[in-house]
Amino acid sequence: MYSGKKHQKYRDGIPVDMEQIKKLFIMPESADKFNEFGNELLDLIHSFFTEKGGIHSSILLPDLAKLFSNTNIPAEPHLLKDILYEIKTKVIAHSVKVGNPYYIGHMTSAVPYFVILLEMIIAALNQNQVKIESAKASTFLEKEFISWMHRIIFMRSPKFYKNNIQNRETVLGNMTLDGTMANMTALLTARNRAFPPDGRFPGIREAGLAEAYKYYGYDRSVIIVSRRGHYSIEKVGRTMGIGNRNIIKVPVDSRNKIDILRLEKTCREIEETNLGGGPRTKIIALVGIAGTTETGNIDNLKEMRKIADRYKTHFHVDAAWGGSVLLADDFRYLFSGIEKADSVTVDAHKLLYAPPSLGMVFFRNGTELKALMHNSNYIIRPDSVDLGRFSLEGSRPFASLKPWATIKIFGKHGFSLIFEHAFELTSVLRGLVEMHCNFEAMNQPELFIFNYRFAPKAIQEKLGKLMLKIQDADSSDEKNNTVKIQYLKRIENINSLLNELNIELHKAIREEDESFVSRTMIDMPQYFYQNCVILRAITINPLTTPEILKEIIEQQNKIGLKIYKTFFSGRFDKL
Ligand SMILES: Cc1ncc(COP(=O)(O)O)c(C=O)c1O
Repeated sequence: MYSGKKHQKYRDGIPVDMEQIKKLFIMPESADKFNEFGNELLDLIHSFFTEKGGIHSSILLPDLAKLFSNTNIPAEPHLLKDILYEIKTKVIAHSVKVGNPYYIGHMTSAVPYFVILLEMIIAALNQNQVKIESAKASTFLEKEFISWMHRIIFMRSPKFYKNNIQNRETVLGNMTLDGTMANMTALLTARNRAFPPDGRFPGIREAGLAEAYKYYGYDRSVIIVSRRGHYSIEKVGRTMGIGNRNIIKVPVDSRNKIDILRLEKTCREIEETNLGGGPRTKIIALVGIAGTTETGNIDNLKEMRKIADRYKTHFHVDAAWGGSVLLADDFRYLFSGIEKADSVTVDAHKLLYAPPSLGMVFFRNGTELKALMHNSNYIIRPDSVDLGRFSLEGSRPFASLKPWATIKIFGKHGFSLIFEHAFELTSVLRGLVEMHCNFEAMNQPELFIFNYRFAPKAIQEKLGKLMLKIQDADSSDEKNNTVKIQYLKRIENINSLLNELNIELHKAIREEDESFVSRTMIDMPQYFYQNCVILRAITINPLTTPEILKEIIEQQNKIGLKIYKTFFSGRFDKL
């Protein structure tokens, strides 16, 4: 028989028994006690935001690992205030200050303070969006929010939204765990619709890939995206069973947008092989990108839609990064054609300024997600309003409260101001780099992502001369062709040394810790698709100013020149 006494423990002279554990599940008897803890917590958060100093803590990673290397699971209960202290000293002290206005390196940035408080409401209500039995008002709020986002993307008629906003038969979209799951939801829907039930064939969902190929007479299926596609598309390919190699990556043009002619050619060749009796390929979807992860560019969505129609396939737009910019009417032109997509991914934890993670996927007609519908007897019954009927995820938090409230608090107007500011910052930074003799602009930014690299003046001049020589060499002449290959090799050698220099610069910037930009390597169209290491600045923090950007570039120039003179100038002289 259970005996409270038997389980009674003492810590610091305090008996810890089931009664005390129970108390942790209910509100303290007085509001004062709850407020006391709340105030302590808010103080902690506030000091994290206002604290001066570096962006990253200086602790070394092995030392950080040591802080969290206790293999013993805590046996005794601890006091809340002790754990709060531990969080303060071990976690908060060593967290990255992504909201710092000098942190311009990633898509994760500042969040408005009210979403921190909204997180508390979400936790307190503890709704589970999978079913109405654990998510009442939140189910309807989520559908309202989804219809707002759908409307800014697809701009259907007012009647369409009136009919669908709370319609239990239709689904305009899903809130998802993240952008990866949003892409997965869209592309799985496309796959199921590409191999639907037909006669005695029960559809790919029931029968699986092998039988679907056999029934419809295909040998493989593919998804087509540009080389700038996010790696989540490959993950989707792997997970849905079509395989990595069946994600076809089409080259990009000089603005990092999918090369439309190459896309058309890829689709045409597939069709010709299908008609010519070769191995037959089903195109499950074309994926356009509205804000490439590395360069922030937007594919020609209008033309992609036409190609998708010509080859009768699903057209998905991965607008995880850029989609929220549609809240600002003035920038809608950049996304021309998105309203004709079959499905669109947007991440709320990017340009809706929600904390990670919160993805969204939207479908043009509201009927497409039926291809994923499922139910179970104990929850998500077929005739219910349960959101879980159409989602890949099971249990989900009431995270939609955050962007729902944010859109209300800022309004479309507030978002227009935020995006205008971000556009201004990008163009200021681009101007600073273009005017500076020791930096080279590496992309033509569209959506707040600017790529550049440190390339001292003398090296840029060297590169410029070689590029001119290549242009002058007529490659129809065999001798010239050999010369051209030599020039290309020299350019490659210079780029490769610049890569080393920029990696060193990036490390030094991290060590100084006064600002942060990210670093990546991309095959640069302007350099014959040679791999170039670039610095990547994402200027979306409303607290970043043009003056801060100026400081950042000046600091990078100072560090870059020091590294160049100490370690690299002699090596460049030999090239
Ligand atoms: C274009 C694009 N698609 C998809 C994703 C994946 O989003 P998540 O990290 O939310 O899964 C990203 C993330 O950066 C992205 O930039």
